Amino acid sequence: MPLQIFRTKQVVSHDDLDHVLKRCLSAWDLAFLGVGAIIGTGIFVLTGIAAATQAGPAIILSFIIAGFACAFAALSYAELSSSVGGCGSAYGYSYAAFGELIAFIIGWDLLLEYGISVAAVANGWSGYFNNALTAIGMPLPDMLTKAPKMGGVVNLPASAIILLLMGLLIAGVKHSAKANNAMVAVKLITISIFIGIAVFNVHPDNWHPFMPFGWFQTLPGGKTTGVLAGASLVFFAYVGFDAVSTAAEEAKNPQRDLPFGIVTSLSFCTVIYIIVSGLLTGVVHYSDLNVSSPVAHALTLLGYNWASALIATGVIAGLTTVMLVLYYGLTRIIFAMSRDGLLSPFFSKVDTKTRTPVRVILLCGIIMALIAGFIPLGDLAELVNIGTLAAFVLVCLGVIVLRITKPDMKRPFRSPFSPLFPVLGMLSCGALMAFLPSITWLRFVIWLFIGLIVYFSYSMNHSKLAESVQKY
Ligand code: ALA
Repeated sequence: MPLQIFRTKQVVSHDDLDHVLKRCLSAWDLAFLGVGAIIGTGIFVLTGIAAATQAGPAIILSFIIAGFACAFAALSYAELSSSVGGCGSAYGYSYAAFGELIAFIIGWDLLLEYGISVAAVANGWSGYFNNALTAIGMPLPDMLTKAPKMGGVVNLPASAIILLLMGLLIAGVKHSAKANNAMVAVKLITISIFIGIAVFNVHPDNWHPFMPFGWFQTLPGGKTTGVLAGASLVFFAYVGFDAVSTAAEEAKNPQRDLPFGIVTSLSFCTVIYIIVSGLLTGVVHYSDLNVSSPVAHALTLLGYNWASALIATGVIAGLTTVMLVLYYGLTRIIFAMSRDGLLSPFFSKVDTKTRTPVRVILLCGIIMALIAGFIPLGDLAELVNIGTLAAFVLVCLGVIVLRITKPDMKRPFRSPFSPLFPVLGMLSCGALMAFLPSITWLRFVIWLFIGLIVYFSYSMNHSKLAESVQKY
């Protein structure tokens, strides 16, 4: 294997104004960005499915287990975001810790995580949107709301919402952050309404049996069930806190504010998930929750129809912020990889007026709109968790490697009990990967294989680091 594969990056300066983003995000903007990306399909849709089919009332344990894995990873993210800096995200950290090849693989993996997440959440959004249209007597026909595999022609609302967000992101990141903050507020209000009603309607009988499916078992046909399988599924609810790290170049003070944004948003969402999942299985029996809108459904069963409609509206806003932030993260990772020469320079041109990478926003928007329109949610969702977990494992490993190879590096934030916490992060995220079905592994490996072809046929020869190595 050529030596240059292991070249690592120190600090790369980007003086060319065409390739510089605008620093405008505060610490709280970043925390809101995190909450915007985190609370979404996971809690509003998957909780019910996981409770009904995998964990029962012990779904609360699934959330705690997945939350622990994320907490270890988040502390590693926080350390690297405060010390490595640069373009942020697991991609940037891997570049510093492991060198170019691993950085490329992780960047490639993140493209899968973010791109597919946006398309998957758009599918969920479309379902809620269509429910809302049906409620006011204007349902769309099935052929316009379902992918071909599900008996339709195209999932039009799913494609349309992505194209709408594309316009918002092109307009500029500060505008997007403002829109995000407003929608996060709506999302939090709807969750408060649910908690406020549910807390007075809990029937402790619903929590028995607490763990009807046990810890883990593989069913005939390859499906998995139990609290641990549930944890692998509801892990999706936490996907997105890492998106905060992709905003490093637009943060006013990234070294101080990124750790704050990551840790604050993750802690807050974990508490919300524990409360909501506990209440949800307390107000209705878990077996009633296998529906596409379990939170709204639970309120309907309790007789609170007005609250149910309100929640559905809030969910539409909530899912919009998730897509917005993940879409934003996706474009920033491609931008960084392109600027480092690992993808074509075509993608890293910043528009002089809006100071946003317009080309990459447009390209991603069109591709994701097509994916969301023509591929059903089930096929998309499976891939997201495995890609994210793989990135988390490498970020935790990156902390350990950098503590050894660069012990003197300035670390304004340090992951506590290192290397214990990063090791626990690697083990817990690795275990959650192991609980995913084998078909998901196969798809993941195919995606990585395509990435390696891109790397060896293009990136390796065009990388900025390769150029600088050759010059000296
Ligand atoms: N965490 C995000 C969600 O649950 C991806 O929708």
